[in-house]
Amino acid sequence: MAASSGCNSLTMYSYSTVLLLSVLLAVFTGSNCFMHKADPCPCKDPTLCNFITKKPQKELFVFQVTNENWMEYDWSYITTVALFGPYTPDVMCHAHSKGIRLVMSGLTDYPVSQLSNATHRSVWVKQQVQFATKQHMDGINIDFEKPLSPSRSELLTALVNETAQAFRAANPYAQITVDVPYAPCGYGRYYDYNKLASLCDFLVMMDYDMLQSSTHATSNDGINLIRKGIEAFQAVGIPASKLVAAVPWYGYDFTCTHLLKDNICNLDDQQYEYDVMTGIATYGTHVQVVYKRITQLLKNSTTGRIFNETYESPFFNYLVSGQTHQLWYDDPESLMLRYNNAKSFQLRGVSMFQADCLDYSDDPEAKALTKAMWDAINTFFV
Ligand SMILES: *[C@@H]1O[C@H](CO)[C@@H](O)[C@H](O)[C@H]1NC(C)=O
Ligand SMILES: *[C@@H]1O[C@H](CO)[C@@H](O)[C@H](O)[C@H]1NC(C)=O
Ligand SMILES: *[C@@H]1O[C@H](CO)[C@@H](O)[C@H](O)[C@H]1NC(C)=O
Ligand SMILES: *[C@@H]1O[C@H](CO)[C@@H](O)[C@H](O)[C@H]1NC(C)=O
Repeated sequence: MAASSGCNSLTMYSYSTVLLLSVLLAVFTGSNCFMHKADPCPCKDPTLCNFITKKPQKELFVFQVTNENWMEYDWSYITTVALFGPYTPDVMCHAHSKGIRLVMSGLTDYPVSQLSNATHRSVWVKQQVQFATKQHMDGINIDFEKPLSPSRSELLTALVNETAQAFRAANPYAQITVDVPYAPCGYGRYYDYNKLASLCDFLVMMDYDMLQSSTHATSNDGINLIRKGIEAFQAVGIPASKLVAAVPWYGYDFTCTHLLKDNICNLDDQQYEYDVMTGIATYGTHVQVVYKRITQLLKNSTTGRIFNETYESPFFNYLVSGQTHQLWYDDPESLMLRYNNAKSFQLRGVSMFQADCLDYSDDPEAKALTKAMWDAINTFFV
């Protein structure tokens, strides 16, 4: 009834008014994000495609890189899944059925040279909103991770601002997050962290890749630096409620030239390189290893698990064709210390990079190890 009377009244307008209206409509749809089209709902219950509207007090922010294991995750505390792997409608339906947000990842591939190009920014922002809306996703995790000089920091702020505004225009409950280093400095990333924090829901601190030595093997995530990093964010005025601590579910395997006293693994510093342009240190002698492989390698260790009190991190030595390797990693015990630390600082939440580092097979031993990793997270919530 209402619709037909609307159509009738339209016929009474002059042709030029209709033309003007359609031009206005075209401008409106072209520039506005909430007109982006969503795909038909793939869930059994079509209401599951609605955006998640609740705002949890505490966050468990889960990075997902493959679509193979999600059914085996412990979903009890998860509040957000950030998709770094392929989109799977089933994950969206499942997350939404539990009131959990599914967010896309963005900005990893944004060219630094185009930060100052307002046209490029605006086209890019539209594409992201379109992508998320189409697939019923609840926001975006911005993973820029590139060095930026202080004079260009405002360009990143502008892009994050434009992204946040466009997402919130399409969905007022959209979640916007930005991945940041363990501290508001370092790695050549001179961002305006304070403004970024004010624009987004929270920052995800990457509390890993914090190697504190180039001459000997060391922790991936020394708790001393984790604490300093949080304090440094607070010192620039970012409240704990805007900070989520992401821990690593992987470790570093170092090849030692030889062992010094107290099991110190000496590295060949010829292989240490520091790139002044990117601010990134690379060590020819270390590689990342996921937790599921670490637990296998531990069985072959020559030392057993050793706990380093300085960094509150475990490590062990093992041999490969007679050569000593030292593997620094995290396990439920060291992670509980980190989740507990996040709790003492009253952070907004915790996270891990990444959920698919665990062994989700049916093997009973694997199942127990995987469960212990998920259970450790409870430390933050209880
Ligand atoms: C700015 O971005 C637009 C859209 O991507 C592109 O067509 C244009 O060439 C860019 N300008 C410069 C100077 O790179
Ligand atoms: C974000 O952009 C709006 C204009 O669209 C501006 O008013 C606001 O100050 C910006 N916020 C920041 C933190 O730059
Ligand atoms: C452990 O050592 C055995 C015997 O040398 C070897 O076959 C196996 O592959 C090693 N395990 C791992 C995970 O490297
Ligand atoms: C922890 O490991 C580092 C690097 O090997 C070493 O310098 C430090 O002395 C160790 N701390 C303890 C308490 O063993």
